[in-house]
Amino acid sequence: MSLANLNANKIKIKANQTNLKLMEWLKIFGSEAEARIRVTEHKPQLLILNSKRICLAIHQGEFFAVQDSCTHSGESLSKGHINYLGEIVCPWHNYRFQLSSGKACDSSCRDLATYSLKSDDTGFFIGV
Ligand code: FES
Repeated sequence: MSLANLNANKIKIKANQTNLKLMEWLKIFGSEAEARIRVTEHKPQLLILNSKRICLAIHQGEFFAVQDSCTHSGESLSKGHINYLGEIVCPWHNYRFQLSSGKACDSSCRDLATYSLKSDDTGFFIGV
């Protein structure tokens, strides 16, 4: 392996370590069962955590979290709806984004930021 490759790998490792340090797991429900009671399938819900507006949704029993602000003109996606393809549809101009990846489906808008979710014996968490 060349010195240039070694340096590139070091930079990647540092970048990954930085990202890990920046992410914080916040408990949003006491358990996954509670989350399933409080979040309704196909009805997005707004979370405000550490000054970030996040849209939390369930589609086909799976939880997803994306940034709440639409990348087209900033409308709140938690006011929108989820279609049968698992896309969140903005209520303003109907632009669509994949919940699983945040990818913009039918526009030249930027993709949405996505957030990791996890649950364990101590609660249901989001990585912010
Ligand atoms: S603000 Fe979301 S589609 Fe225009």
